[in-house]
Amino acid sequence: MVQAVRGMRDVLPLEARRWQTVEHTVLRVLRAFAYEEIHLPLLEFTELFARGVGEATDIVEKEMYTLADRDGDSLSLRPEGTASCVRALSEHGLLYNQTQRVFYSGPMFRYEKPQKGRYRQFYQIGAEAFGFAGPDIDAELILLAHACWQALGLRDHVRLELNTLGASSARQAYREALVAYLMPRASDLDSDSRRRLQTNPLRILDSKVEKTRALLEEAPRLSEYVDADSQAHFSRLLEMLEEAGVDVRLNPNLVRGLDYYTHTVFEWVTDDLGAQGTVCAGGRYDGLVAQLGGRATPAAGFAMGIDRVVLLHETVHQQQPRAAVDLYVCYSVEALSAAGHFSEAARRELGGLRVRQHMGGGNFKKQLKRADASGARWAALIGENELAANAVTLKDLKSGQQETLSESAALERIRSVDRSHEQER
Ligand code: HAM
Repeated sequence: MVQAVRGMRDVLPLEARRWQTVEHTVLRVLRAFAYEEIHLPLLEFTELFARGVGEATDIVEKEMYTLADRDGDSLSLRPEGTASCVRALSEHGLLYNQTQRVFYSGPMFRYEKPQKGRYRQFYQIGAEAFGFAGPDIDAELILLAHACWQALGLRDHVRLELNTLGASSARQAYREALVAYLMPRASDLDSDSRRRLQTNPLRILDSKVEKTRALLEEAPRLSEYVDADSQAHFSRLLEMLEEAGVDVRLNPNLVRGLDYYTHTVFEWVTDDLGAQGTVCAGGRYDGLVAQLGGRATPAAGFAMGIDRVVLLHETVHQQQPRAAVDLYVCYSVEALSAAGHFSEAARRELGGLRVRQHMGGGNFKKQLKRADASGARWAALIGENELAANAVTLKDLKSGQQETLSESAALERIRSVDRSHEQER
């Protein structure tokens, strides 16, 4: 039997049910904030990510799935959505003299070492806002994610870590100071950090290696290099978050793994998932649009790692999500077409109700067993007697009570007792 490719996961029906709840909830919050959906391709020119995410990042250096198109172009499966989003909006002139607030969802691909919460194909829902320079949009994006945690019942299980990187000139000056400090001490660094000293020195700040951490104690601080404008932007953001009642943990070592960030960066982190605890991350990237060839446009956004949010949801809300079926329709051989009509009427009249018609015959006892196993709240039985009386027997599988009713009365009964399916619409 051919197996799945390492790091590419299957989401099987039971997990997919929870997945649906999570995705549905996040998308509902995004729509409540009036963000508009955008669909982006899975494949882009490799150059987009090399220029956008950064040549020296782990993502571009060693994690992209890159292939040659038949005509020799180098294409890559998208490792993230921000660069594509900038490309799409610029290419279609949608950043010119206007603001945009958009969201996207779908799989991303990175050749990382697979482990719990880290996959080679993973799913993000991202939100991006363009054309807003002030800290109010940073606050809105953070509050949007916060509203998602609240709606998912995860609010007490995630915390917000926040930092500012300053303008890119400040970051450049700091980068030089950090390299000047670490270079003479390079032999004391771990090998990963030593390599990063040449390529991406700021990433050394979030090294977890003990001896590297010790060296960093005395290193120059990024905060000392942050320019006054950026500092003011950050202070105002902190005020707004405080007013909104969002707890913040300042993390001066938070630098993020993608090169395009300026000013605000943030991560939502949980302690409930082990090593892969970042469930959502983002920040401001005021230089990216111009860097990719568009007109300078301030921008900010975030992406949630849905695989991780689903894992967290499972850890916190251990009860199974609701069953996949609401009404299970059982029937005897001669009632096949009546059962078909009843199922159809139920789907039509009670929009959102999930109606499964029994397949494979058998007596009512066997069919009711299937109905129970499906998790349905209701079973409808149509046999010889019901057929003669133009009726159905409706069984409430929760209470065990049953009653023979006309088709419309049966539907009315379901409607009056069980409105939960309506929330799904
Ligand atoms: P990122 O930090 O690379 O940022 O990814 C965002 C989130 O995607 C992570 O916090 C994590 O939850 C999830 N994620 C990343 N890699 C994996 C993986 N291998 N397996 C499972 N989940 C993963 C970005 O992608 C930026 N584009 C976010 C952004 C949007 N910044 C501004 N706008």
